[in-house]
Order: sequence, then structure tokens, then C-alpha cells
Amino acid sequence: MHSTLKEFLLKKKLFFEKKIDRGFSSHLFLARNKKGVFFVIKMERHDSTRFKMAERESENLKKANGVGIGPKLFDADLEKRIVLMEFIEGSCFSEWIFAGPSKTGLKRFVKELQRQAKVLDKIGLDHGQLAGSGKNILVRKGMPVIIDFEKASCNRKCHNLSVIEGFLLRNPKGAIAAKVNAILG
Ligand SMILES: Nc1ncnc2c1ncn2[C@@H]1O[C@H](COP(=O)(O)OP(=O)(O)O)[C@@H](O)[C@H]1O
Ligand SMILES: [Mg+2]
Repeated sequence: MHSTLKEFLLKKKLFFEKKIDRGFSSHLFLARNKKGVFFVIKMERHDSTRFKMAERESENLKKANGVGIGPKLFDADLEKRIVLMEFIEGSCFSEWIFAGPSKTGLKRFVKELQRQAKVLDKIGLDHGQLAGSGKNILVRKGMPVIIDFEKASCNRKCHNLSVIEGFLLRNPKGAIAAKVNAILG
């Protein structure tokens, strides 16, 4: 195990559970405390701090948390390049949608996601990666939780709502929009 991760786990009194994912700029790990509560550790992949994942993710997630959005941010260790956050138990949106949710369930989900996008627009935080594969929207108990705020910014024009609506409902070539429209009828 990476020594930085080991030190961080010791410091936070957490236990390593498993590796979740390896993205372009970070490693994602699942950890738990002695009570059995799970946490996600997002650790910058590169030794260089060029990508500033830890700063960006923590600063933007903090802003989102301020309006009740995203997994709760628990810690940002900028020396170790690690962000500690709430573990969202569930599947990613692209898996969930193809597993065939009910019409009522999907309606509620879309409404809630539109609400969250509007709230982010209102505070001027553009997420930047809401569309695409649907991997930055997790589904917990049928409700959306937006993750991955690393590329979010307050310095761009905000279009979270239009991106979400395009992605979910209007993208003519998108398998996801086709599926959503097929369920909603
Ligand atoms: N808080 C979380 N709870 C549960 N799973 C998470 C959480 N954060 C990230 N993941 C999982 O790890 C993957 C990669 O994390 P993400 O923050 O999107 O990093 P990347 O920048 O590599 O895309 C996500 O698609 C999701 O499956
Ligand atoms: Mg991501």
C-alpha cells in the first residue's frame, strides 16, 4: 500500500477496505472506521500537484455541501493530496437507468436532479462533468447524489440545468436519453 495512504489511514483511525477506482487524476479507496462506517478516500495520482485535484475537489465540494449537495466532505489533507468524504452506497446513474427503474421512481429522480442542478446554478458552481457516461451521478435509495467536483468551477458560465436536461432528455444520439424517454413515455 502507498505509504501516504497508510499514514493518512493511521492519522484518521481508519481501516483500508478496498480500492474502488482509478481515474485519470486520482485513486479512489474505500475505508471504514472502527464503528463500521464507510468513507471514500480520493487521492491524487500524480506526485506533482499540477492538477490540484485535492484543492479543487475539496473547495468545490465544500461549496456544494453548503447547499446540501454532494457527498459530505470530511477532510482535505493538502500535503498528502487526499480528500476524505462520505461514502455513497448505491450504483452509478448509467447502471441504474438500464436496470429499469419505474416511471414514478424515474420521475422523482429527474425532478430531484433538476432541483440540484438549479441550486448549483444559483450559487454559480458549474460542475463541468455532469453529462457523458453518467458516472458522476450516483443513485442512493432512488435519489441522485452528484459526485466528482474536481473539474467544477465558479469562474465559468453555469449551465448545470441545461446540461442535465440535455443529457437526460434531449440528447438525440444518447442511449441514456432514449432510455429515460422510453420509461417516461
Ligand atoms: N463518495 C463516493 N461514494 C461512492 N463512490 C464514489 C464516491 N466518490 C467516487 N466514487 C466512485 O469512484 C469513481 C471515480 O470517482 P470520481 O470522483 O468520479 O473520480 P474521477 O475524477 O476519477 O472520475 C466514481 O465514478 C464512483 O464510482
Ligand atoms: Mg468521475
